[in-house]
Amino acid sequence: MSSVQDSVFLKACRKEPVPYTPIWLMRQAGRYQAEYQAIRAKVSFLELCRTPELACEVTVHAVNQLGVDAAILFADILLILEPLGVDFHFESGKGPKIDTPLRGKGAVDRVATEIDSKDSLGYVMDAIELIRAQLDPKGIPLIGFAGAPFTLASYAIEGGGSRDYRHTKTLMYGDEGAWNELMTRVSDAIANYLLAQIDSGVHAVQLFDSWVGALSVADYARYVQPHVAKIFEAVKGKVPAIHFGQGNPELYPLLKETGGDVISVDWRLPLDEAWRRVGDDVGIQGNLDPVSILAPREAMLERAKVVLDQADNRPGHIFNLGHGILRWSQVPDVHALVKYVHEQSAR
Ligand code: CP3
Repeated sequence: MSSVQDSVFLKACRKEPVPYTPIWLMRQAGRYQAEYQAIRAKVSFLELCRTPELACEVTVHAVNQLGVDAAILFADILLILEPLGVDFHFESGKGPKIDTPLRGKGAVDRVATEIDSKDSLGYVMDAIELIRAQLDPKGIPLIGFAGAPFTLASYAIEGGGSRDYRHTKTLMYGDEGAWNELMTRVSDAIANYLLAQIDSGVHAVQLFDSWVGALSVADYARYVQPHVAKIFEAVKGKVPAIHFGQGNPELYPLLKETGGDVISVDWRLPLDEAWRRVGDDVGIQGNLDPVSILAPREAMLERAKVVLDQADNRPGHIFNLGHGILRWSQVPDVHALVKYVHEQSAR
């Protein structure tokens, strides 16, 4: 086995014993870092994603600066919308905007039935190769990722972020045939994209269902679960898969049933209770509230200790935040968190 396969992160994904709890942070490369800001002063966010050398630089910088146990590919869940035929742009300070949201009769027909990720998202595959060349010698694994179909579809339909998901749910409740057609097209593309990333060398994948918490348990089971299950089926047994959903802890048992070797949970339940809900046959990732990093150092570490105490050094825990790191975080605090988790969990 290579040293990357022996890394604490991949061992934890496989629920093997580890000398200390691995930690990485969602959105660990980003605007809270001066070095990232310096690159962004020169290129737009999308140019950064589409330039493999720069994507590699920010991915690797986050690992070196923070001392985390895994890298996550620098990209965005929305990139796949372009080959799907749904154009978007980023408005400065306002986040993503879809040029022509998918609404009205026939809108679903605008979405491609098939994509070739190695071609249309080839820049992501190139970044993976560059990152591996730098991180393999250090034994650091690389996580690939994609957005989940509900989260991506809701962006495409709402045109951006949303409070109530009213256009998305109106389609879902009102035209189940069109909804399932859209979810099928998006899910096939996601599976193709994840398989291409795995082929290009990522050691694990994470599916981000960031907005799934907008759904009830019954609606998730009926409108979303079958589509997400097909994606996990497609990658099963190839590399460890992490399933992230946030906002509604009642969904955790269903997320687990739908797929993934590790379930990534938010802060709304104590970690031990979340783990009880998903069962101890999967690993768990989480679950510090990202705002903790903005609190005084002592308060942040106290809250991190609660998470570690609840995990109780059981094999299969990967320390992370319950959602992405906030841009107001300070690098020395983030570094102190990583160091604390390593020291406090040493066994
Ligand atoms: O984790 C990492 O370090 C990898 C990089 C990554 C980014 N986005 C970089 C990014 C990952 C994994 C994502 C996923 C993503 N993108 C999600 C799911 C995760 C989550 O937080 O729920 C979502 C919902 C998106 C869509 C998206 N991209 C939004 C809503 C925004 C604006 C957010 C903001 O803070 O303004 C983005 C832009 C984005 N993606 C940035 C980064 C570093 C900020 C871009 C910039 O201005 O430089």
